[in-house]
Amino acid sequence: MAKLWAARFGKETDSTVNDFNSSISFDSRLYKEDITGSMAHAAMLGKQGIIENGETEKIIEGLKGILSDLESGKLQFSEEYEDVHMNIEQILTERIGDAGKRLHTARSRNDQVALDLRLYVKKEILAIKALVLEFMEALCASAEENLETVMPGYTHLQRAQPVTFGHYMMAYANMMKRDVVRLENCLEGMDDMPLGSGALASTTYPIDRDFVRQQLGFSRVTDNSLDGVSDRDYCIELTSALSILMMHISRLSEEIIAWCSWEFKFVELDDAFSTGSSIMPQKKNPDVCELIRGKTGRVYGDLMTLLTMLKGIPLAYNKDLQEDKEAVFDAIDTAKQCLKVLTPMFSTMEILKDNMKKAALKGFINATDCADYLTKKGMPFRDAYRTVGQLVAQCVKEDKSLADLTLEEYKEYSEHFDADIYRAIDLGTCVAGRCVTGGPAPSEVERQIGVIRRFLEQRK
Ligand code: ARG
Repeated sequence: MAKLWAARFGKETDSTVNDFNSSISFDSRLYKEDITGSMAHAAMLGKQGIIENGETEKIIEGLKGILSDLESGKLQFSEEYEDVHMNIEQILTERIGDAGKRLHTARSRNDQVALDLRLYVKKEILAIKALVLEFMEALCASAEENLETVMPGYTHLQRAQPVTFGHYMMAYANMMKRDVVRLENCLEGMDDMPLGSGALASTTYPIDRDFVRQQLGFSRVTDNSLDGVSDRDYCIELTSALSILMMHISRLSEEIIAWCSWEFKFVELDDAFSTGSSIMPQKKNPDVCELIRGKTGRVYGDLMTLLTMLKGIPLAYNKDLQEDKEAVFDAIDTAKQCLKVLTPMFSTMEILKDNMKKAALKGFINATDCADYLTKKGMPFRDAYRTVGQLVAQCVKEDKSLADLTLEEYKEYSEHFDADIYRAIDLGTCVAGRCVTGGPAPSEVERQIGVIRRFLEQRK
C-alpha cells in the first residue's frame, strides 16, 4: 500500500522502518478520543465554511459508524497504516469517499495526537481518582472498627509508643488524600485544548478554536502553537503523581507483608487474596502486596522514561514524542490494576487485635508515659527520662514489663511513684491521653475520619 506521502518519495519505505515507525500496536487504544476530536474538528470546519455542511454531516456519520464497528469488534485496525490517526482517516475515506479526504484540513497529526492523549489522560485521571476514593472509604471503615485496637507504633522498626490500628489506617488515608489532590491539580493544569496548533505554526484557515474547545469540554485553549504540539508536562505530572501514589500503597503493602509473617501475625489475608507455594504446604503468601511493591518500580520507570525522552527535544514536534504513550499507558494501567486488587484485599483482611495488644504489652511502649507521669508529679523531664531508663533496664534483666513491678520497687527509684502509676501506664490510658489534634485517642481518630469522610463526600 502506497504511503500518504508517496508523491514526494522515490522509493518505498523499508520494512524495518515501517515496523520501527509504527505505533498502531499501542496507540489504537486512543480510537475513541481520536474520533471524538475529529467529530469536533469536522463540525468546526463546517460551521466556519471551510468545508461544506453536507461534508461535515458525512464525516460525522462516517466516524460514528467506525466507532460502533470498532466497539462491536466488526472492524479491526491494519498494521499497514502507521498509527490510529492514519487508520481512522483511511477507513473513513474508504467508506465515504472525498469528504473523508477533507477532514484533515487545518489539522496535523501533531495537534491531533496532542489532543487525543490529553482527552485520554483526562478520562483516566477521573477513573484513577475514583479508585483511590474507594480505597479511602475502605480505610475509613477499617479505622472506625479499630478505634480502640491498640498496637505498637514503631520508629526504626522498634516498638516505640502505643497507637491504634485505626490511627494507623488514617495515616494512609491522609496520604491518599494528598494523592487525590495531586491528581486533581494535574487535571486542572492540563485542561488546555491543543487543536489548532497544526503541525507547529497553527494554520491560515479561519478556524474557531474556542468552538472546538467547548465541544470537547476543555477549560482553555493552548496559548502557543509550538508549545501546543510539544507539551507533555501533563504526562510527567500524571506519572509523577502516580509514582507517589504507588509509593504510598507500596509502603502499606510492605507493612501488610510484615504483619502477615509469624513474627508479627497482626493480620491475616483472606484466602481469596493469598497464594500458596508449589513445594511448601504450610505457606500462605502475600503475593498481591509484593506485586504492588514491585510494580511501583515500573511506574517510577515510566516517569523516568518521560523525563529523559523529553529533556533533549527541540521545539516543536519530534518523533521521540511517540514514545510518550507506552509510558503513560503503562503507568495508568499499573496503578489501576494495583488499586483494583488492593481495596478488596484490604477490606477482607482479618485484623488480629489480640496479637496487636500482646505486642503492645511488650517492648515498653509506655515508657514515655511513665516518664511523663513523673514529670507531671514535678520531676524535670530529663531526670524522669533517666529514672525510667533505669526501671526499663531492671525489667529487661528480670524479663518483666513496667506493669509487673510492685509499688515498692517503683518507690526505690522515686518517691513520686504512687498507686496511680498503674493506671497511668495502662495502654488504654496512654492512647486516650493522646487526644491532641493528630493523636491516636479514639475521639481524635473519629474526628480524623470525619475530615476524610467530608473530603470524600465533596467528591461524590
Ligand atoms: N503516531 C504519532 C505520535 O504518536 C502521531 C504524530 C505523528 N506526527 C508526525 N509528524 N510524524 O506521535
